[in-house]
Formats: sequence, C-alpha cells, structure tokens
Amino acid sequence: MSWCDGLEAICRADVPLRDYTWYRLGGPARWFVEPRDEHELAEVLARCQQSELAWRVLGHGANVLVPDAGFDGVVIHLAGAAFTGVRREGNVVLAGAGADFPKLVKRCLAWKLGGLEGLAGIPGTVGGVIRMNAGGRYGEVASWVREVRVIDRRGQIATRRAGEIGFTYRHTALGDDIVVRATFLLEPGDGDTLRQRFQAIWREKQSSQPALTGRTAGCIFKNPAGDFAGRLIDAVGLKGTRHGEAEISTRHANFIVAYPGATARDVVDLAQLAKDRVRDASGIELELEIEVW
Ligand code: EPU
Repeated sequence: MSWCDGLEAICRADVPLRDYTWYRLGGPARWFVEPRDEHELAEVLARCQQSELAWRVLGHGANVLVPDAGFDGVVIHLAGAAFTGVRREGNVVLAGAGADFPKLVKRCLAWKLGGLEGLAGIPGTVGGVIRMNAGGRYGEVASWVREVRVIDRRGQIATRRAGEIGFTYRHTALGDDIVVRATFLLEPGDGDTLRQRFQAIWREKQSSQPALTGRTAGCIFKNPAGDFAGRLIDAVGLKGTRHGEAEISTRHANFIVAYPGATARDVVDLAQLAKDRVRDASGIELELEIEVW
C-alpha cells in the first residue's frame, strides 16, 4: 500500500525540481502531485496528514531554493485549469492560486484597473505572491487583496478576509493554509497612466537588478528594519564574490546569480558568507527572504 493509491493519475515519484524553479538547482521531489481540483487537493492533504509526509506547495519556483538532496516529501503543484483561471467582476478580480502573476498584472492594465501595476516585474504565481506578501518599492500585494480562499491542513475550505491574513513585510500568518484563489479589489483608472506607471517601474527594476531571465530567486534576504540588505552586503564589499558557480550579483548585492554548473550548496554558502560579513560589520542579522526547502 502506498500513500497515493488511487491517485496515480496525479502523482509521480522522484521528479527533478530543478525544472520547476527559477534557479534550476536542486534535487528531486520524492513525490510530485498535481491535483486537478480542490477535492483532490483536500484528499492529498488528508493523506499527507495520515502518512505523516512533509509537504510544500510549489508555484513557479521564483522564490525557492531546493537543496541538492531534493525534498523528501510531497510537492503540490497547482497547475491545472481549476487553479489557474482569472476573471473580472467590475472592480473585483478573482484569480486562481496557480495563475501567473505578471500576466494577471498585464490583464488588469488591459481592463484599466489600477493597483497591481505597482508590482510590475514581480514573478511567480498568485498563490506565491500572496503567501509571501510580495512587493517592492511601490507597494505590496496586501494593499489590493480583499480575501483569499484557502484549504486548511484538514482539507476544509475557508475564506480569509484581508484583515485575517496577517500580512506583514514579506510574510503572512497563513501557516499551513493553502491559498487556492485570491480576490483583489482594484481601482478603475486611466489606461495610459496605468501603463506608463507600469513601464516606469519595470524599467527601473531592469536597470538596477539582474535580468529577470537570469537564474536568481530575486532578493535573497529581507530588508532589516531601517536599512537595506543590498546596501549592507554591498558595503562589506561582496558584490561580484563567487563561490563555485554562484555569484553575488554585480548589479544588486541582494541577488545571488547561479551560472551553469552551480549547486544549491554554492548559493547557500554565499548567502551564509553575506550574512556573516554583515553581522561582523554592523551587528545586523539578515533574515532569508527566499525559502530554502
Ligand atoms: N543598494 C546598494 N547596493 C546594492 C543594492 C542596493 O547600495 O547592491 C542600495 C540602493 O542604492 C538603495 C537601497 O540599497 O539605496 C535599496 O535598494 P533598492 O532600491 O534596489 O531596493 P531593495 O530594498 O534592495 C526592494 C525589494 C525588491 C524589489 C525592489 C524594487 C526587498 C528585500 N526587496 O529591493 O524585491 O524588487 O525593492 O521595488 O524588499 C524580492 O522581493 O525578491 C525583490 C527583489
């Protein structure tokens, strides 16, 4: 008897996760499951609970570093049609957790709905963006979320209103709740103005950060209160430092770029070096923004 008896159609063993992350690093998932609807997702969670299997939800892997040994548990991928739909009802937009966030932002521009254009250039799925309250200099997603639909670890569906999500800087209090859909409340605006704002923010990011096509996971560390991780790592002279085939970006010191042949270990070691040097120089303890599985 296997934990996934009867779920063979949606469950595979030993699936390389490097193909699913921006870093394209790391080993396999012991199990990789693609539920086709909420019912199947609830079933998967119940079985993980029963069999005491660790699980993670994978979006587009834009903020995740998978260790070289892989992940010894169940990776849940919400990529089916039931989880990727987007629709509009007036100023409200509903998007599945697996929907592509940058595409959603562009669709909102086409609908002349303002708000999310401030998040231009943030990669990932809707679920990932919500879960970590993604954002940048021009705001965070929390400002535009009305509610999220979640499945809890017991497989129960619930709605969490914005005030119940516990949004703080790059964090939510969702815990083991899996986002399956988000509802955004946006503001009607002028199409040209919104588009110009989107393009200006996009260009600014392009000029100050490594290319979005490059192998990074965005910012490695959260900004500490009152300062910037990028500024602190730059100030200790680490820009351009290489370890194996990974490098602290020469463009922005809070990014670690992976080159061909890099291992997840190379990235982890460089992040540790940056953390140690910044602590030695300033006493500030940097905290990871990326998720290391
Ligand atoms: N800085 C340096 N050296 C560097 C990088 C930055 O001195 O190598 C200085 C800059 O000059 C600036 C300050 O540090 O004075 C902040 O830099 P920046 O404006 O680039 O913003 P950031 O705080 O480093 C944040 C988000 C980014 C987001 C940008 C732009 C965090 C951890 N990072 O970066 O988000 O793209 O604003 O909106 O909050 C991410 O979350 O993965 C991410 C990349």
